[in-house]
Amino acid sequence: MQTGHIPLGRRAYDVLVDFDCLPRLGSVLRERALAQDNVAVITSPRIGGLYYESVEAGLREAGFRHVGRWDLPDGEESKNLARFSEAVEWLARFTPDPAIRPAVVALGGGVVGDLAGFAAASFRRGIPYVQAPTTLLAAVDSSVGGKTAVNLPEGKNLVGAFYQPRLVYVDLSTLETLEVRELRSGCAEVIKYGAALDADLFRFLEQSIEDLLALDREALTRVVTRCIELKADVVRRDEREEKRVRVCLNFGHTLGHAIEKASDRRLRHGECVAVGMLAAAHISVELGLCSAQIPQRLEALIRRAGLPAAAEGLDMAHVMEFVKHDKKFVTGANRFVVLRGIGQWQEYEGVPEELVREAAGSVLV
Ligand SMILES: NC(=O)c1ccc[n+]([C@@H]2O[C@H](COP(=O)([O-])OP(=O)(O)OC[C@H]3O[C@@H](n4cnc5c(N)ncnc54)[C@H](O)[C@@H]3O)[C@@H](O)[C@H]2O)c1
Ligand SMILES: [Zn+2]
Repeated sequence: MQTGHIPLGRRAYDVLVDFDCLPRLGSVLRERALAQDNVAVITSPRIGGLYYESVEAGLREAGFRHVGRWDLPDGEESKNLARFSEAVEWLARFTPDPAIRPAVVALGGGVVGDLAGFAAASFRRGIPYVQAPTTLLAAVDSSVGGKTAVNLPEGKNLVGAFYQPRLVYVDLSTLETLEVRELRSGCAEVIKYGAALDADLFRFLEQSIEDLLALDREALTRVVTRCIELKADVVRRDEREEKRVRVCLNFGHTLGHAIEKASDRRLRHGECVAVGMLAAAHISVELGLCSAQIPQRLEALIRRAGLPAAAEGLDMAHVMEFVKHDKKFVTGANRFVVLRGIGQWQEYEGVPEELVREAAGSVLV
């Protein structure tokens, strides 16, 4: 089992990464005294159907007397306030005794993790929770760092909290049941880490992206643990996104989010990030910050990962409208995460609108 650590003082926690380890989650919670008698597993019909039984058996074997399951319906549209209410009301019924503190296990992808984390953050002003991510995106990104949220009709992730889990417990064998499109989408975030933060990781992906997609254990372990280390370092330096460090994780996301919205959920998040990274790389070249070789390497890797290098059938005006409303745009001047080279990100304020339009045009077909 690989162990990572998120060093946040009193809120510090470990990230454990292994294969076939969900049945042992109960004993790990017991050994680390992370839960008392009541363990509330928040999952979804699909993910719970695949993995809840083994988690539950392990929890019971470890002596947890009161174990329960609540399902969030699958899909981003479930990440809302109504479902959040249902989750906390269920927690209230699950543990009515105020003397007992339940712990939450979030078993699922980013949708389950974000809502379950926010439920744990707010139920009785905060109860302990553990992230058990089951998608590549959740393993390398959303499960680590303590951002929890639900969506409003007015926008994504508008209601939430920074609330760190007590443990992140990654069973990489769960990725075997993930649809290949989801796996590829998660790969976009992995490529993002390499492109923005780590040239060695990027080179490793250039050598081994096919192994990663084939879920080769060595490649997968190496890549996931490295991404978690990178995220840990970013979170350590800027836990609450106040120091303009955590913004590096937004590489590819400014145009990516706009494309995601304009596509009306037809495209996966990671697919939009892939396209957004190419647009941001284009901007970087045009600003004279990096050589034209950088977007070429990025595009080659994105294509090998089975991700799109352009988005089809979207209206440019529509995309530009969403770009302008993106929360990463501060009043007056926009801010983009750009590259000076592979693994070298920088925030750039005031990219000329004409150049943003041109970059968007270069990835819309
Ligand atoms: N908190 C953060 O820091 C952070 C960071 C990035 C993204 N996010 C959020 O994460 C969410 C996206 O997460 P996601 O990409 O994991 O999507 P997801 O949670 O919707 O999961 C994708 C699909 O895969 C299915 N699935 C999950 N694990 C499976 C498995 N092991 N086998 C079979 N099917 C499985 C799910 O049921 C779902 O249909 C978004 O809501 C986004 O806002 C949060
Ligand atoms: Zn993302």
